[in-house]
Amino acid sequence: HELEWTLGEIEKGGYEHFMQKEIMEQPTALEDAMRGRVLPDDNKIVLGGLHDVMDDLRDADRVIIAACGTSWHSALVGEYLIEHFARTPVEVEYASEFRYRNPILRDGDVVLVISQSGETADTLAAVREAQRQGVMCLGICNVVGSTIARETDAGVYLHAGPEIGVASTKAFTAQVIVLAMIALKMAEDRTLSHAEFADAVHALASIPDKVRTTLEMDGQIEKMANIYRYSSNFLYLGRGFNFPVALEGALKLKEISYIHAEGYPAAEMKHGPIALIDRFMPVVFIALKDSTYDKVVSNIEEVAARDGSVIAITDEGNGELDELCEYVLRIPQTQEFLSPLLAVVPLQLLSYHIAVMRGCDVDQPRNLAKSVTVE
Ligand code: G6P
Repeated sequence: HELEWTLGEIEKGGYEHFMQKEIMEQPTALEDAMRGRVLPDDNKIVLGGLHDVMDDLRDADRVIIAACGTSWHSALVGEYLIEHFARTPVEVEYASEFRYRNPILRDGDVVLVISQSGETADTLAAVREAQRQGVMCLGICNVVGSTIARETDAGVYLHAGPEIGVASTKAFTAQVIVLAMIALKMAEDRTLSHAEFADAVHALASIPDKVRTTLEMDGQIEKMANIYRYSSNFLYLGRGFNFPVALEGALKLKEISYIHAEGYPAAEMKHGPIALIDRFMPVVFIALKDSTYDKVVSNIEEVAARDGSVIAITDEGNGELDELCEYVLRIPQTQEFLSPLLAVVPLQLLSYHIAVMRGCDVDQPRNLAKSVTVE
């Protein structure tokens, strides 16, 4: 037992929990996910695992992405990415619903599944359903040699390294970066000009350092967590590329701190969640200076007018929200399509610190499993 403990401590590399280690190692996980694939000097993206199927993927009439949990959230970001860059219609499905709906697949459809473990039963069943209907099925997995990795026709590994904490962190950001590479590869020399493609490749390459800078907020977030640890409900709101990040922020909090949290697209607030807002309701907004900023600011005003306690994630140098919000967290600027990779980091840290302060078992939350291999 003593030996195990010692090994465990060594594996955590000086961190208190695997989840904390995995949050902190995201810059290197993202570098690893891009190594040999994102080549800014040559303006190139190379995805060896998709080489033989890339033409079919680029010609696809529709991409259907199936996944569960956090991987389903990265799938939603993937929908925004692929539609934005490649202009290919995308549908995102919960793997568990997809498999039982007798889904309609046609010639020209491509199914893409996302699974950190590569073993999730519902996601594997989605692979088999695609194959039963004779449609190409691609995979994005982290665990090398996993069942989904073996059974899909082709795919991309995350190379994010082992993820031990039950709540997924670095696998999420690695999935998003792989999806960005896929979307850009689909769009190269088609819907994107050479210059636009080159810009995007350079933006990708600069992301790990920006995640490093974002992680420097850890101390500030820990102090904030001390204030919010007693809350019993949280709302997370975002739009566009960051709508899925709002869902992921809420999921992280639920999973490890057992605080009830919901994520919504910010504009949906007025169709229900606004009824919940009072001074006991913290609302986390992702309010970056992007195409939806002004709209999100008016949502913040609506929450502030009802005494809700607003935490906003915005861009470095933006002081416009200070008056309206209880806390403003500033993240580095990047191209809009990459902002989920930065915006999710403070949300991961917030749930981590709140869970630790509440005495929760961060790495092995009650009732949850790292990989759900049964239905
Ligand atoms: C479980 C885990 C989640 C994970 C989900 C999907 O619920 O607790 O963290 O996101 O499964 O797992 P996968 O390995 O397929 O990505």
